[in-house]
Amino acid sequence: MLIDKILPRTVDKSSILRNLRNVNILYRHNESKYTIQLVNETEPSCDRGGSNSDLSFNVDRDTLLQGVLKSIMTPENNQQVKPKKIVMDFSSPNIAKPFHAGHLRSTIIGNFIANINTYFNNKVTRINYLGDWGTQFGLLQYGLKSKNINVKDLKTDPIRTLYDVYVYANKLASTNEEVQQEARKYFADIEQGRMNLDNWKNIREITVQELEKVYQRLGIKFDAYHWESDYNGGNIKSIMDMLEKEKIIETDESGKKIAKINNRDITILKSDNSTLYIARDIAALLDRYQKYEFDKMLYIVDNAQTDHFAALFEVVSNINRKCTDGCEHIKFGRLKGMSTRTGNVVFLNDILDEAKRKMHEKQLLSKNTRSAAMNEETCDILGTSAVLINDLKQKRLKDYTFSWDRALQSEGDSAIKLQYLHCRLWSLEQNCGVTLPTHCEPKYLTEEIIGEVIAELARFENVLNKSLEEYEACILVNYLFRLAKYVNRMFNELKVKNVDPDLAAQRLLMFYCARQTVKTGLEILGVRPLKEM
Ligand code: ARG
Repeated sequence: MLIDKILPRTVDKSSILRNLRNVNILYRHNESKYTIQLVNETEPSCDRGGSNSDLSFNVDRDTLLQGVLKSIMTPENNQQVKPKKIVMDFSSPNIAKPFHAGHLRSTIIGNFIANINTYFNNKVTRINYLGDWGTQFGLLQYGLKSKNINVKDLKTDPIRTLYDVYVYANKLASTNEEVQQEARKYFADIEQGRMNLDNWKNIREITVQELEKVYQRLGIKFDAYHWESDYNGGNIKSIMDMLEKEKIIETDESGKKIAKINNRDITILKSDNSTLYIARDIAALLDRYQKYEFDKMLYIVDNAQTDHFAALFEVVSNINRKCTDGCEHIKFGRLKGMSTRTGNVVFLNDILDEAKRKMHEKQLLSKNTRSAAMNEETCDILGTSAVLINDLKQKRLKDYTFSWDRALQSEGDSAIKLQYLHCRLWSLEQNCGVTLPTHCEPKYLTEEIIGEVIAELARFENVLNKSLEEYEACILVNYLFRLAKYVNRMFNELKVKNVDPDLAAQRLLMFYCARQTVKTGLEILGVRPLKEM
């Protein structure tokens, strides 16, 4: 972190950095210096303000300028004292059920949190924990059978077909008790190992293949796919024994196994001993702790599951306190109103297709579009960037309503603006005919706007620290918008072409460092920076 390098010697660095929440860097052009304020904020927030300064000191303009540019030109590793092992459970949709807005937010926010941890050299394991267990599989099986569909033969859009079959069977079951019974019997057969699982394994395989295509569009990779059904049999028994030994499990008159925690009854096993969602999560958590020996286990799942995770951690802490000490439910608010041309959103692919289509229309109308850049890939990346940034600029816990207009606007704070800035900076580097210097020479970099841009660049590491600490992408997004404003001003005020070569080279260095910062920021957010649009 840059700021710790420029702290005055008299200051106890470690205590300040430990408590550090925010750094204000005020540029005083007339005095050729910066005032750095280290601030402890009482309220964590996405916006600035509401803070009081604990310590402030001045730094000479040229010193900060050189320090900042050098740290961007030769980034040292962000070595943590000891990298943490972080396991993350995110995205985690259910097979044969819609990938809803909650899964979309989990995917986007989870990817950001994984990226920023990786940036700080933590060792991250990304798990997609797919829901493949429960009565809905009985329904699905029923539907497949009555429609005479062999999963192996599903070629085009298998996920949609499976979903349609599920909807069909669900509908039948809602009015027909027999169908319901039949479906339940199917599931009981699967669960108790009386049914050949080939068909269902095929369903899982197809699902992963299809999901991977979409994750690829978003630039997301998982280290492992885990299944709820993996935690259905075997180890549940021994877990129940442990819980019974701790005397937190009771069996009620119907035979259900219930955990009594803080005056709440949490059913873990049904009366026929089949597992519930929480039972599988208990087994999965203990398994993960054993497998990964994590320092932290983060669940990126919507608000609606707050009680579920509280109960999960509570139950498991009775078995292994060390394991749950590292557990955190990172929740987020509801996303409302996301729909596409064809109706309410069911599949992630539809959202991304819609974003791409709308971007294409927009690009056609824009006078800034370079015709060479009007290709599918660009529109796809622009569309996904718009969906990502629009989500990540929200405060995580807030509910919000989606609007295509707002997500895709080119004025105001949107992905297009940041992508456009990145393209503009890239194009300058390619076309100015100047070679990037290896050193910074402050005597060429005297303009006020340069001083301002340096102040922004100097805040970057601290912004990242805060974003990580609060798991708030909006801190980083807001920062990038602000940086964009200054860099755009720098574009208007400083020429690189047709000026003295030494001056041109130093200015190019400024633009280059600005682009590196924008690029790093976008990549952490999960956005692929474009070079042309
Ligand atoms: N599949 C679940 C759902 O859609 C989310 C799973 C979250 N992760 C977990 N370990 N429970 O609601």
